[in-house]
Amino acid sequence: MKILVTDGHGVEHEIEATDGWTVMEMIRDAGLPIKAECGGSCVCATCHVIVEADWFAKLPEKTEEEVDMLDLALEVFDTSRLSCQIEFDPSLDGLKVTLAPDAIM
Ligand code: FES
Repeated sequence: MKILVTDGHGVEHEIEATDGWTVMEMIRDAGLPIKAECGGSCVCATCHVIVEADWFAKLPEKTEEEVDMLDLALEVFDTSRLSCQIEFDPSLDGLKVTLAPDAIM
């Protein structure tokens, strides 16, 4: 299983995905420069990603906490999510996201 992550230079990275891990954890573990300052506690919005539209519709709904935090992100897109709030499962094999500018170190 894998996820596809586009970095700040437009380069797509194929990352090995692990069931039960969050998308933020997998991006960080792969060595991509994601800030994720709060470590996944949903209190910083620096793990902001833009999800490819077809995949966005397949993700579980945002929690109220995630909606509140995304309000603090610099530039929010229709398919913005906080990657620490997306837990990977096999139905997300092939998920495509792009690091948002405010998430990049
Ligand atoms: S890492 Fe802080 S909100 Fe996701």
